[in-house]
Amino acid sequence: DWSMAAYRAETIAKIKAQVGKGRVICGLSGGVDSAVAAVLIHEAIGDQLTCVFVDHGLMRMNEAEEVVRLFRDSYNIPLVHVEAEALFLSELAKCGADPEAKRKTIGRLFIEVFDAEAKKLGGADFLAQGTLYPDVIESVSFSGGPSVTIKSHHNVGGLPERMKMKLVEPLRELFKDEVRVLGRELGLPEAFVGRHPFPGPGLAIRCPGEITREKLDILRKADAIYLDEIRKAGLYDVIWQAFAVLLPVRTVGVMGDYRTYDHVLALRAVTSVDGMTADFYPYDMAFLGRTATRIINEVKGINRVVYDVTSKPPGTIEWE
Ligand code: XMP
Repeated sequence: DWSMAAYRAETIAKIKAQVGKGRVICGLSGGVDSAVAAVLIHEAIGDQLTCVFVDHGLMRMNEAEEVVRLFRDSYNIPLVHVEAEALFLSELAKCGADPEAKRKTIGRLFIEVFDAEAKKLGGADFLAQGTLYPDVIESVSFSGGPSVTIKSHHNVGGLPERMKMKLVEPLRELFKDEVRVLGRELGLPEAFVGRHPFPGPGLAIRCPGEITREKLDILRKADAIYLDEIRKAGLYDVIWQAFAVLLPVRTVGVMGDYRTYDHVLALRAVTSVDGMTADFYPYDMAFLGRTATRIINEVKGINRVVYDVTSKPPGTIEWE
């Protein structure tokens, strides 16, 4: 893509001019955006960049390991992996079921942990973020309406006011599909670049109600099976975002000769261009039936599966 090649060269020149001999710290979320930002900045200024990956224990199956491997082994980008699951889960336990309390707690802890790591590294002059154009506008207004906060967004963002660092945001003018093109241009593996978006607060907002390690483990297993079925059906790239949501509702079922009383799992899948609006994905029933059977048979703790047929608006993509 010639225009993206030009964007890459132009942006690298801008980063060099902005940063000079300064030191840059970049928070990795595990998602495509912060990864593309980090690789681009690394290309511009090399080891003046250090990445910090705050692992909040709210990632999907094997996700944290994959991120660490990609950065350390494939790109040789200096990376600090902070394992903070215990801290996040103990603080989330105090939030009860309130979605905004959960989001705000995760945002606050993220900043605290990140801040502490930045100090350990001896500080930095710049903070890099994978902010996209839709992040800039969605936090200001919603669907062209009045300025209102639908959800307290947590990216790797929220950091700037606290930390007296200047921002480096090389993706600020791009939409998600353009970030993917840029990622390919930078040689990031297709399996990584093509990944569905994943929110900063992770599985915490896909687990309505109180967060426990046990629920997160159930959700991780079910989510992995769901995504496996989507890939097998050749639908991963057709769908913009798909995930499972573990509901805090238990219902009665029967397994063999036994009565069960377990969680309900909701499946979500949407098509979208930029996440601002979305349509639910019209699976065929055979796919849904097959996936539900597999999840109920393989995941202890779930005995019922439902499919979310809400578009955005009026729904949002995530449940919290
Ligand atoms: P909603 O649920 O608002 O989500 O329709 C739109 C898109 O944004 C993602 N999302 C987030 N991404 N931090 C993020 O980095 C967040 O706090 C956050 N909340 C939602 C969501 O996954 C979807 O792609």
